Amino acid sequence: MVDRRRMVRNYSDRPVDPELVDRALRNATHAPSAGFSQGWGFLVLDTTDDVRRWWQAATDAADLASPDDWLTGMMRAPVVIVPCSSKAAYLRRYAEKDKGWTDQDEAHWPVPFWHMDTAMASLLILQTAVDTGLGACFFGIPVEREQAVRAEFGIDPDFDPVGVITLGHRASDPGNAGSPARRPRRPLTDVVHRGHWSRR
Ligand SMILES: Cc1cc2nc3c(=O)[nH]c(=O)nc-3n(C[C@H](O)[C@H](O)[C@H](O)COP(=O)(O)O)c2cc1C
Repeated sequence: MVDRRRMVRNYSDRPVDPELVDRALRNATHAPSAGFSQGWGFLVLDTTDDVRRWWQAATDAADLASPDDWLTGMMRAPVVIVPCSSKAAYLRRYAEKDKGWTDQDEAHWPVPFWHMDTAMASLLILQTAVDTGLGACFFGIPVEREQAVRAEFGIDPDFDPVGVITLGHRASDPGNAGSPARRPRRPLTDVVHRGHWSRR
């Protein structure tokens, strides 16, 4: 299943069974989270109108007027999920008695666990797509569009979108394979460091 996952950037317009969307979201909530904070939220857009509003808010007007292959394939996805993470939820959770970081100082955090956990939840959505015969793609929201997206969908100011996921039935996309078509997977000998970073 892990071997079969890859980002899908071209979809047919066949609708997605809402039960499969629910399953993906349920699975997302089974992701690990620091202190079981679960500081995530998922904006789900699963109607033609909401998906159209997504692309309008998230895309530069000129690109929308003449969409390239990437945008054309992605815009056909009948479902868009925007995973969002809440730093505030983690600061609050870790100020609780069993954790005790009552100063809520961000310096306690070695890395932003709020984004990590929402990313892990996002991966479970991607893997559920594989399980259910769907295709999915996680990608970034252009920084310059974030405010428009927040305003259009009323995203809680305590939450930050970490990216966006398209979900749908896969159409053939030979020209849309993304970076793996252009660069190889790094071998284990390159990325694994046993016992000491400089020894292999
Ligand atoms: C944080 C993140 C941001 C990404 N942004 C984009 C993007 O903007 N556009 C896109 O087509 N793919 C995007 N991708 C997908 C990557 O290109 C893809 O995961 C990578 O090339 C490996 O391919 P695979 O996931 O199909 O194995 C993103 C993936 C991640 C994890």
